[in-house]
Parts: sequence; structure tokens; C-alpha cells
Amino acid sequence: MTWRELPNKLRIYIIVLAALAVPVISWSTWDVAHTPVSSGWIVLTVLTVLTVPFFLFLPSANAIVGIGDAYVVAMAMMFGPSPCIIATLCHSLTASVLVPNRPKMYRAVFNVSSMVCVAWIYSHTYKLINPSLSPSVPDMILPAVALTVTFFVFNSLSTATAIAWASGEPILVFWARSCMPLAIDFSVSAVSASLIVGLSELNEWAPLAVAPLVGVVWGWNKVNKAKAMEAEKHLKEQEELYLRTVESLGLAVDAKDQTTYGHIHRVRAYAMGLARLCGIKDKNELMAIETGSLLHDIGKLAIDDYILNKPGRLSKQEFEKMKMHAPAGHEILQQIKFPFPVAEYVRHHHERWDGTGYPDGLKGEAIPLGARIISISDAFDAPGPGRDHVRSQPRRAFCRTSGRARSPRHQSCRRNPAAQIP
Ligand SMILES: [Fe+2]
Ligand SMILES: [Fe+2]
Repeated sequence: MTWRELPNKLRIYIIVLAALAVPVISWSTWDVAHTPVSSGWIVLTVLTVLTVPFFLFLPSANAIVGIGDAYVVAMAMMFGPSPCIIATLCHSLTASVLVPNRPKMYRAVFNVSSMVCVAWIYSHTYKLINPSLSPSVPDMILPAVALTVTFFVFNSLSTATAIAWASGEPILVFWARSCMPLAIDFSVSAVSASLIVGLSELNEWAPLAVAPLVGVVWGWNKVNKAKAMEAEKHLKEQEELYLRTVESLGLAVDAKDQTTYGHIHRVRAYAMGLARLCGIKDKNELMAIETGSLLHDIGKLAIDDYILNKPGRLSKQEFEKMKMHAPAGHEILQQIKFPFPVAEYVRHHHERWDGTGYPDGLKGEAIPLGARIISISDAFDAPGPGRDHVRSQPRRAFCRTSGRARSPRHQSCRRNPAAQIP
């Protein structure tokens, strides 16, 4: 995604983070410049930068989390907020330059700003509870726990907010799925940081001894990464298999109704394009619309062939029978227990905006949005005069019924829905 393609709220979020990071970095730089620098401080900063190539990979988010955090956290515990913020700045800037597939500029700005702001929060939290930065274990336990919790919550929520806003997924859903498993890594970082603080009390070069622990965490995550990628690949294959199965079922219905060849593929294309135009980004909702558009006429399996393929107009009695395909489709799909409302969309794909549709005569917004989208796409691809069951109309007539048959907001006749589909 380019900067221009990002949702407005995400662009504002990145700008606000960057605006907050600037004074934090300026103040910390000034503060560090006026504080005597110890060699322990330099050792930890160097280690922070050297651990940049060791990172965790979040396959579902295609994002990375550094594991040199133990050293940054140790700096907050030993030297206070300003050195910790400067080390965080060095770490995140190096990460932006060294990481493979160097991120776009706005991503680098987001990563650096977010890390700096989060470092400000957790380092001040630690200092608030342990103002003297006492290295004794009893004094460290409570502030270290508070630091770990604030570090994890703010860091993961900041990343989850950005990724969820970019993908359209609810923030907490994404956070629970992708970030919660990382809580253990943050805890390991905090324990390692406490070890570093303890060892530094013995000798300022001693923090180097913690390096093997960082290596173990890195190796453990490399194995996890391979497993996660395998699981994701399996999930994708399952999704494809599912869609191909649904498509085959839809094609079987399409083949039964000889007047609508290729209808379901066109309805799917129109429906998915309309869903995008309506701003629907929720994956489940999109899946429901896609499945519903492929299976909207599955109830025709229960309709006699002579009615389906009758040339010319249907009699009143035949039309009443044909109307049964909507509730019949609902009944068939209800048995499958989809994790999204496909059966509802199929039931209501012949409702009309003015309440004169079938089977339930729903009116306006009472018709589920997915059903309205499928209805517009279905009517736009109606097979032509003589097929009364869909109140088929040539496309000019389709436009004339806007506001009565379909939501005027979602059916704009000046903008041909098909032409809007990329
Ligand atoms: Fe239908
Ligand atoms: Fe249809």
C-alpha cells in the first residue's frame, strides 16, 4: 500500500505518532548530552543495535518484532527514560535500514515513532514505581512487571491498530489473534532484562553473557515461524478448496437453469465490486457476500425444470412456485452452518427496497446489506424479458426502478455498477 492508499484515520494516526515522537527524541537527546555517559551505557546501546538482525516474524501481519528488546528494557531499568529512548531510536532506525525488503518511508516513520513513544511510556512507568532505579531484586519485581505489561500492551496495540486499520479488520480481533501469542516473548525480554541488570551489578561487560539466551529465543521463534507459515498455507488451501466447492455447487444450479449461463460468475464479480465500493472490508462479511452471490439461486434445485426453462412469461401459479426458491435456498444453506450469514442473504435476495419483494416483504434497511448487494448484482445481470421471477429488466429498466426495488444509496444508475468494478 502506498501512503495515498492508506485510510485517512491511519495517516492521521502515523502523523500524530511522529509529532509526539519528535519532542520525546529532542528532550532525550538533550538530557543524554548533559549526563555523564558510562561504559555500561555504551555496551548496552551497542548490544541493542547488534541484535537488530534477530527478530520475530508475525506471518499473519507480515510484520516483525525485534528481540533485542531485552537490552532496551535493561537500559530503562538501569539508566532511566532518556538513555532507553535513545537506544530505542538507534535500534529502530537500524532495523529500518537493515531489515530485508526495506519498508516504505511511512512504515519506517511509524515503526520508529511508535517504538519511541512506547519506550517513553514504559520507561517512565518503571521510574515512577522505582524512582531511584534500585537494582535490588525486591525493589525491581513490581516495577519490572508494570514495565512488561505496559511495554506489551502499548507496543502490540499500536502495531495492531495500524495493521487492523489498513486491512479493515477490528483492532481487538487482530490483536487477540496475532499479538497475544507474543506476550511470552515480551515476558522473556523482561526476565532477560532483569538478568542483565543483575549481571551489570557484578561487571559492566557481564550483560554479554545473556546473549545465548537471546539466541535461544531467536531459534525457538524461527521454528515457530516455519510452523506458522505452514499453518497459514494450509488455511489458504482450505479457503481455496471451499470456494471451489461452493462455485461447483453454484455452477450445478446455473446448468439447471439453461437461460442463465455464466450468471453466477457475473453476479459474483458485480457483488464483490459493489461490496468494495460500499467500503466493506470485514473478511467474514466479504466471504458471506461471495458465497451468497455464488449460491443465491441454489433453491432452484427444488423448482421444476419446466418452470425454470419455460420460454416467455410465467403464469401467476408458476411464479408463486418460482418464488419458493428463495426460502428453499435458505433452508438448504442453513444445514451447512456457515460461520457467516449466507443463508440470510440468499433468503432475502429478492426483497425490494419498497417492501414489495419476497419471501418476507422486508423494506429498506431491514433487508441485510449483503442481500441488497446480491440483489442489485443479480438484477443487473437479469437474463432479459420474459423471466418474471427475477422481475427481469433490460439494464435501462433496472435503473428506472432505483429507489423502489433497490437502495438508492447502493444503486447509482449514473454510475454503472459493473463499470465501477476494477
Ligand atoms: Fe433468485
Ligand atoms: Fe440469480
